[in-house]
Amino acid sequence: MKIIGINYLSESSVCLLENGKIKYAISQERINRKKNWYGIPYKSIERLLSDTNNNIKNIDYVVTCGLSSLTKDMPNKKEFQKKIDLVNKSILKKKIKKKQINFLKKREKHEDLVINVRTKKIINDLKKKFPNLKVYDHHISHAASAAYNSKFKSCHCLTIDGWGDHASGKILKYNNGKLDELYKTSSIDSLGYFYGSITKLLGFKPHQHEGKILGLAAYGNPKKPLKDMSKLISFDKKNMKFIGNYEKGIYQATFNNSNLKFLLKKYSKKDIAACAQFILEKVVLDCVRSISKNKINLVLAGGVFANVKLNQKINELKNIKNIFVYPNMGDGGLSVGSAMLCYNEVTKKIPQASKNYYLGPSFNNKEILKEIKKFKLKYSKPNNIEKIIAKKISEGKVIAHFNGKMEFGPRALGNRSILCAATDSNINNELNKRLGRTEFMPFAPLILKNYTKKYFKSLKDLEDYKFMTLTCKCEKIMINNSPAAVHIDNTARPQIIDEKINLRIFKILNEYKKITNIPVLINTSFNMHEEPIVCSPNDAIRGFLDGKLDYLILKDFFIKKND
Ligand SMILES: [Fe+2]
Repeated sequence: MKIIGINYLSESSVCLLENGKIKYAISQERINRKKNWYGIPYKSIERLLSDTNNNIKNIDYVVTCGLSSLTKDMPNKKEFQKKIDLVNKSILKKKIKKKQINFLKKREKHEDLVINVRTKKIINDLKKKFPNLKVYDHHISHAASAAYNSKFKSCHCLTIDGWGDHASGKILKYNNGKLDELYKTSSIDSLGYFYGSITKLLGFKPHQHEGKILGLAAYGNPKKPLKDMSKLISFDKKNMKFIGNYEKGIYQATFNNSNLKFLLKKYSKKDIAACAQFILEKVVLDCVRSISKNKINLVLAGGVFANVKLNQKINELKNIKNIFVYPNMGDGGLSVGSAMLCYNEVTKKIPQASKNYYLGPSFNNKEILKEIKKFKLKYSKPNNIEKIIAKKISEGKVIAHFNGKMEFGPRALGNRSILCAATDSNINNELNKRLGRTEFMPFAPLILKNYTKKYFKSLKDLEDYKFMTLTCKCEKIMINNSPAAVHIDNTARPQIIDEKINLRIFKILNEYKKITNIPVLINTSFNMHEEPIVCSPNDAIRGFLDGKLDYLILKDFFIKKND
């Protein structure tokens, strides 16, 4: 049985699920080179069919999200009215009351337009093209991506994002392939919008630069703005949902929240970032503690779980046995979640968990050589390429590394990565300059599996750290010999490497360890400025020529810049 999953929201993506296994997945931004592109990803569907030697006639089901557009009711209508009543009864000044109520009324209209007009049109367009289309709920698809790809037979699922299908979060129970919804937070009480509005307030792009706020947060003092910012959002234990406190006068479920501007006059940007992170952690941890007093396994998906520090804090809670964060946690992962839901619904079988996320296109030496010749680059094809890469890195060089299938999800996991030594913390500034980036977080470390316990003693389960989804505490040896990959709070976001997960990177790390006695290297995504991660050899060569990188590896080819 073959199922194509489609996500048309931010980071539009497609996947192919064949006989219960995800065989291929790609976001359209990688093909059209437009970061976070959204819309129906026709180009990606074509690419998927050609890369997997399929024809649309061989596909049994095409699936997507957006279930709420198929029903006429607005389930949030009551929620909107309740909020308006609360604001009316509050002690807020008349002017602020009016502003909050106007926002809620506008927001209700906007939601109606997006779901009942825009989404409906997209679903209709898809149905015309794919008459066998199945449509699933947004947050249940997020939960499915995390539950089915985890190692758990039974667990709880927590999904949190900006907004999808009238909700911004759900709590579900997963048992032997079956998902049951327990609680729901409505779209107007959104933690995703809360964090995004702080991102916007501090001068960054919401829905893209939230990682910068997380990085900046470690430099600030959360206590200073807390009295003002704690009015924004909280967790309601009784009803098991997040609450945007409109009646306290500043929260709005939008990136563009003008109520927040006063914060910039009173506090520094780093203190505001620190406080936003503090509140996010407090509210989500309150929620996770309330899910169960007993120890539980918990799986997480939705854009908010791109926050690696939040994930670490959840993993450290007493009532948590283990967590799993779906590596493509944002809406890009919805294609996979809905395809897995369909497989389970139709076959009553449990889909297979992905062992790795190298699910995109790959290129052979012939295709690569054609591009190298087009750009008239000098190249060699050495037998011991891993040894040469390790030696160059040990000499302080920066390597752009392109090999095998492209990663699915926001993180480069070695196949479309920039590699360099982690021994000198100045490399962070230098690399940011070379790549035209402004990051407050240090780059993440790759580490050989055998040395992980020595460098990161606190890890519960090494399997959780294969896809760079959470941070952890560093031991002294890590802080001393790989300072460039350690954050100011002595944490890092390791990616554990063994020969099964990525043989090429495993060999490079081994060769580097032989030279330096250090089993750690820096891995950052291979992209320039605000561009998506490179996909093809052509993207890689253009990125290499654009940037100030020392060498480019294209599969088996070693390339220097022409003099
Ligand atoms: Fe979402």
